[in-house]
Amino acid sequence: MQFTYVNPTVIHFGQGQISSIAQSVASSKKVLVIYGGGSIKKNGVYDQVTEALKSHTWVEFSGVEANPTKETLDKAVKIVKEQDIEFILAVGGGSVIDGSKYVAAAAKYDGDGWDILEGKHQVTEATPIGAILTLPATGSESNMGAVITRAETKDKLAFMNPAVQPKFAVMDPDVMKTLPERQLINGLVDAWVHVCEQYITMPTNAMVQEGYAETLLKNLLVLGKQYDKRDNDAWRANLMWTANQALNGLIGTGVPQDWATHMIGHEFTALWHVDHARSLAIVQPSLLRNQIDAKRGKLEQMGKNVFGLEQSDDLAERTVVEIETFYHSLEVATQFSDYETTKENAIDRVVEQLESHGYLQLGENQAITIPRTREILESAML
Ligand code: NZQ
Ligand code: ZN
Repeated sequence: MQFTYVNPTVIHFGQGQISSIAQSVASSKKVLVIYGGGSIKKNGVYDQVTEALKSHTWVEFSGVEANPTKETLDKAVKIVKEQDIEFILAVGGGSVIDGSKYVAAAAKYDGDGWDILEGKHQVTEATPIGAILTLPATGSESNMGAVITRAETKDKLAFMNPAVQPKFAVMDPDVMKTLPERQLINGLVDAWVHVCEQYITMPTNAMVQEGYAETLLKNLLVLGKQYDKRDNDAWRANLMWTANQALNGLIGTGVPQDWATHMIGHEFTALWHVDHARSLAIVQPSLLRNQIDAKRGKLEQMGKNVFGLEQSDDLAERTVVEIETFYHSLEVATQFSDYETTKENAIDRVVEQLESHGYLQLGENQAITIPRTREILESAML
């Protein structure tokens, strides 16, 4: 283990915390409030933001779509540049927060914002951001990552930069009350896979990272089993905080990480609009089976410490079955058939996208090469 670690995002957690933005954003700053398709207007969040910003000068930009596109976000970049915006308040789920990160970075760059995603422009500064989270899932509210889609070419790419990490994040579990079931389940699954991507690699002896990852996985398993209690303050608060901790940098610090499930899953979203979390559930069980020898030690550890399974020669295999059963218990599919073409063609399309993005060797051992990916897709698709 060798690392430098900081998470600079101030967290305001709990009911009624949206009012805290009145103090968190200096009233001298001109603010752009960015939000999505309008859910915040139906659940009172917009009204709370308006009330908290009554002493501020602010304008708004709405219409950031799920899986936010560069095409939409560039309109907000223009507003930031033309109206001298000094602070961005992102109010929404991962898409709105990721989109705001792109806007914040692109606004400080004269070229095309997509250069940031392609690595042609290295971000050094960004308009400061604050986040009001309305959907616990991605951890975007207190991390430095963002995933953006270019609709024109169906590219979905990520960038990471400390300049775009939110200065503060407001997490009021009450905002989850209006979440559709589908999104609530997506949150559980996405957070689960985030922990897995940083945990199911190889045994590391990093007791803090592994132990905390197991705690987060056990939390998510319990929340899934207690799904009928979802209309309960403690259930909501526990999901919101667990999903945040799953991807705020801590459990991945100083240990190997995988992320191949995410990289392959992103292509399903870009090609067929599969919800992010659901793309992960489609890819992950097939990927784990494909890589079972390399991941055996960690899967056995997960089997014992998370699922409470007894030691056996096939413990790793049984652990993958448990993971799959967890998804099925939430009615989340682990295979995909909605590709509107032949299976062969669908696999070719995913592979072409991965190749064009340079994802030729994924996973903690760079062992998920294109032939391995084809095997994974062969069993992930019906
Ligand atoms: O647009 P609105 O009207 O707000 O509706 C949204 C959207 O339709 C709705 N919603 C959000 N909060 C709500 C609500 N509806 C009712 N009540 C509320 N309180 O939910 C829908 C989905 O929202 P979205 O933000 O797209 O979901 P999520 O938070 O799952 O974000 C997914 C995006 O994050 C990226 C994904 O790739 C995807 O683009 N990711 C970002 C990561 C990061 N920054 O670290 C990591 C993740 O692995 C992920 O890749
Ligand atoms: Zn994810």
